[in-house]
Amino acid sequence: MPLDEDKYPAETGRRRFVSGVVGSAALSAVGVGGAAAADSLTDAAGEGGGTTTFVAVENIDGPAPRGMPIIPIQIDGGTLKGHWPEYDEEAGVAIEQDYGGSGIDYSSAWFQYCGIQTASGIYPQADAENTFLNSQGSFDWQSDVEKGAPLTVDMFDDYEEWGNGIGSAGLGKPAGATWRQTDDGGVPVQVLRSTRIEKIANGETDLPSSVQSFIEAATDQGFIAWLNKCTHFCCVPGFKTQEGSANFGAENRIYCQCHQSVYNPFSPVQKQFVALPRPPQTDG
Ligand code: FES
Repeated sequence: MPLDEDKYPAETGRRRFVSGVVGSAALSAVGVGGAAAADSLTDAAGEGGGTTTFVAVENIDGPAPRGMPIIPIQIDGGTLKGHWPEYDEEAGVAIEQDYGGSGIDYSSAWFQYCGIQTASGIYPQADAENTFLNSQGSFDWQSDVEKGAPLTVDMFDDYEEWGNGIGSAGLGKPAGATWRQTDDGGVPVQVLRSTRIEKIANGETDLPSSVQSFIEAATDQGFIAWLNKCTHFCCVPGFKTQEGSANFGAENRIYCQCHQSVYNPFSPVQKQFVALPRPPQTDG
């Protein structure tokens, strides 16, 4: 199976951009069988990239090469958080092996693409905020919540019937948020609470056992979350954020308006990609 290749590395800073290109080109030449070699090449260009298995919301249409990584949800006293694994100094990543007994290792490398690998909160040892913080702009209901306020379960009480005129109502209630917030900002995520996610977590669909175990551990009360960065050219897509999504059959899916990639939030899949190395940190 060919590995996906990032076509659009680090967005910020020319030095980072160049280093990302070198890492990506070298890694793509290595291929699936060269994980060990990939590690050493990765070290030359940065830290902690290479072949990575992850769980995604599936890419089902358009030019995106793969799905977007799922962020395991944690509900802490009614507040929605994304789980960040423990930093493993030896491995150089934050990693939780065998997440939820799934056999899949959940790691910070899942988010190392599209320039996200340069975000300060994505560095494995970063002291960043794991609470999903309200970002206004995607959905009317979120303008009633203060920008940057924690998202809480009660905000989604109407999730079984919620709709906004795009596609069908009752498929779930979404929110845009930022995650891993530091003084430099956070990364974009989308959160969705849906009865369909409850059904998936209850084993009512036919998933491979590894993905099933992952989803049982990574979702809670029907909530699922993913890093909301299109794996094509890094736009920010959305579930029911674009009226025009109906023209592409994506009104009930996650739609990226840049080049019409479509993702299915109700189809978790296990994939591999080559995570980009993180540029060396120059401060803190
Ligand atoms: S489809 Fe091209 S950036 Fe999303």
